[in-house]
Amino acid sequence: MSLLQRLIEQAKNPKGFVGSTMLRIMNAAHSGMTKWVIQSGAIKDGDVVLDIGCGGGKTIQSLSKINRAGKIYGIDFSKQAVKNSIKANKEDVAKGKVIVRKASVSSIPYPDQFFDKITAFQTHYFWPNLASDVKEVFRVLKQGGQFIIISEIYKINYHMKSYKTKIEIQQLFENIGFQTVNIIEDTKKGWLCITGIR
Ligand SMILES: C[S@@+](CC[C@H](N)C(=O)[O-])C[C@H]1O[C@@H](n2cnc3c(N)ncnc32)[C@H](O)[C@@H]1O
Repeated sequence: MSLLQRLIEQAKNPKGFVGSTMLRIMNAAHSGMTKWVIQSGAIKDGDVVLDIGCGGGKTIQSLSKINRAGKIYGIDFSKQAVKNSIKANKEDVAKGKVIVRKASVSSIPYPDQFFDKITAFQTHYFWPNLASDVKEVFRVLKQGGQFIIISEIYKINYHMKSYKTKIEIQQLFENIGFQTVNIIEDTKKGWLCITGIR
């Protein structure tokens, strides 16, 4: 396996020392995406939020700071990511305000219509079946709740075979049942933000 392939594998499913180091780097590198969402005002105090593919746990930490009365849940299918996320949020975990579990987006271990907001940063291009995985996200989202994906466009183009265009993504979300779909591009940063409102 080439070095590039190994790094991609570690980004997809961080493991051990190398995975942990990558999670720390991603915490710093992706914090601007969390800021983008916070500045948009999408997260309200009191919201029950799920961060899918929570990685090193920095997004959970930032969302918890601005959401004093709410709860933040994180899931990630990497054991290492769960460990790092719990460590990064240890005080809130101890208080029961932050809950991190090892789980795949394909089978989210929460009941129907449980979350007000669901975020997924730099992760959806790794998901095994975007159509059924977004359907699973829809299941756990409350009526009127928002699902927010942010990713670098070049990574979407590199990793994904379908759902690369805005129209394909919009149709997927609408077919699943989202009432409103907004897709914004930050051309300077090369980021795409997809918001589906149930
Ligand atoms: C590139 S990292 C991004 C981590 C974090 N969201 C951030 O922005 O720093 C991708 C994360 O998605 C997780 N992931 C990939 N596929 C997943 C799946 N099917 N279910 C849950 N988590 C997944 C990986 O384990 C990894 O922690």
